Amino acid sequence: MPELEVLITREQIAGRVAELGAQITADLAGQPVIFVGVLKGAAVFLSDLVRQVQLDATFDFIGVASYGNQAQQEKVWDSTGEVRLTKDVDRSLRDKNVILVEDILDTGLTLTFIKRLLLGHQPKSFRVAVLLDKPSRRKLAVEADYVGFMIPDKFVVGYGLDYAEQFRNLADVCVLPDV
Ligand code: IMP
Ligand code: MG
Repeated sequence: MPELEVLITREQIAGRVAELGAQITADLAGQPVIFVGVLKGAAVFLSDLVRQVQLDATFDFIGVASYGNQAQQEKVWDSTGEVRLTKDVDRSLRDKNVILVEDILDTGLTLTFIKRLLLGHQPKSFRVAVLLDKPSRRKLAVEADYVGFMIPDKFVVGYGLDYAEQFRNLADVCVLPDV
């Protein structure tokens, strides 16, 4: 495994996730909530976040993929713009308080697609939590309600984020050079 430059340490992540959990706990004010994680990148963030929330909570997962040439997409990390659902939620979100959990908000194409899809369930409320936000690369006007860290335009891995499925298990968020 190559030496990677650490951008955000595990301690910084833990501290910020605890703050987000406390904020969500306060905002939902005793109401039940369902967290919906986007596979696979959000799995690590979701598992830490839900344990920092003092509410009656459940969680579910959805899967999305981009259309297009897979090999090309692993080199060129810009989204192609076309997103499709590979796994839907197991239960209806109708009249539920939903918090969508995503690893990173980049161009906004993925989040825009997922948001439209989940709002179709007519939830009682809908909020978005992202670990990382790269606002400089936004193509569509979409924002998260809870943001862990704003980061510069660099390709990052670790804490759930991958490069060609690798590095998801790194405890820190690291910069991958030369992508
Ligand atoms: P968007 O649709 O461009 O906002 O991209 C969101 C998705 O792109 C994320 O869920 C990630 O899978 C992927 N992504 C964007 N930037 C990075 C990065 O720096 N590292 C790893 N994955 C990324
Ligand atoms: Mg991803």
